[in-house]
Amino acid sequence: MSFIAALPKAELHVHLEGTLEPDEMFRLAARNGITLPWESTDALRALYSFTGLEHFLPLYFEGCKVLCRREDYYDLTAAYLRRAASEGVRRAEMFFGPQTFLDRDIPTADQLGGILDAIADARTDSGIDGALIVTAQRHRTEAAALELLEALRPFRDSILGIGLGSAEAGNPPSKFARFFAAARDEGYRLTCHAGEEGPPSYIREALDLCGVERIDHGYTAAQDPDLVARLADDGVPLTMCPLSNLRLQVTADLSTYPIAEFMKAGVLVTVNSDDPPYFGGYVNDNYAALQQHLGLGPQELAALARNSFLGSFADRSEIDRALAAVAEHEATAS
Ligand code: ADE
Ligand code: ZN
Repeated sequence: MSFIAALPKAELHVHLEGTLEPDEMFRLAARNGITLPWESTDALRALYSFTGLEHFLPLYFEGCKVLCRREDYYDLTAAYLRRAASEGVRRAEMFFGPQTFLDRDIPTADQLGGILDAIADARTDSGIDGALIVTAQRHRTEAAALELLEALRPFRDSILGIGLGSAEAGNPPSKFARFFAAARDEGYRLTCHAGEEGPPSYIREALDLCGVERIDHGYTAAQDPDLVARLADDGVPLTMCPLSNLRLQVTADLSTYPIAEFMKAGVLVTVNSDDPPYFGGYVNDNYAALQQHLGLGPQELAALARNSFLGSFADRSEIDRALAAVAEHEATAS
């Protein structure tokens, strides 16, 4: 097995809805009596070429229509966790956005119940430590996000954190300052997509106005050296997604991907898949792409894996155990 494949790692930025493989999408469509607008999985895959986030999101939401019943959410989560475990992922902090499905009157209990059951079963089956981060959608209002928080109350103890996703441009984190404050009051861990397509000021807003602990993407921080220094000084993790950034034309070329410069500056950067089938790769494909295009060696790859645990919301004892596993992998592989 390659160094990357057997490297113990955490995945901190993956949208469960975005893990829906085309074959599975068609299977669930048939199971639920839904007619998809594509003739075949090949016809669907042919559309996986995007000009940007706003081009990708409608296709992603179209795919979400096959997720209807509790078992659909279970199967989706179980398949991702099986795949992640097979790639050396020990901990997965997974995003999920219930508002898409509440629009179709699918009860939160069905959505989250299926996901949480799959997390529990995967823990038993493979030992993978799964956790759920619920995201609000930033193209909607803050009032809608606050309503979502209310709907989550019965599941409070089963949800790790709260995040913010969807169309970034024109929807700055400041729009959701009261939402994040309310989530913090309820004891959730906080993270926010920022600096994927939005400017560095969105990253500052997420930190200063929303008080988030982690930044999802953070790519555009590269335009602002003072911000990079601040992220390093304050130990703010970035959950970066190289293949996603490539496929959404956030970056033109991975050979200049700023993760190398962020690492040199001391930023706690991590490598993740975002929406793996849509963007051409699971987490190990993302590590491999950086190895190939940036010439990263085993020490740098291991540093990224260590960061994935250090940047996680896991308990300190779990982080220490995982760091020891990374060290053991480095020792046996060298
Ligand atoms: N939801 C799913 N993928 C996303 C991405 N790359 N950015 C923002 N929201 C998302
Ligand atoms: Zn994302």
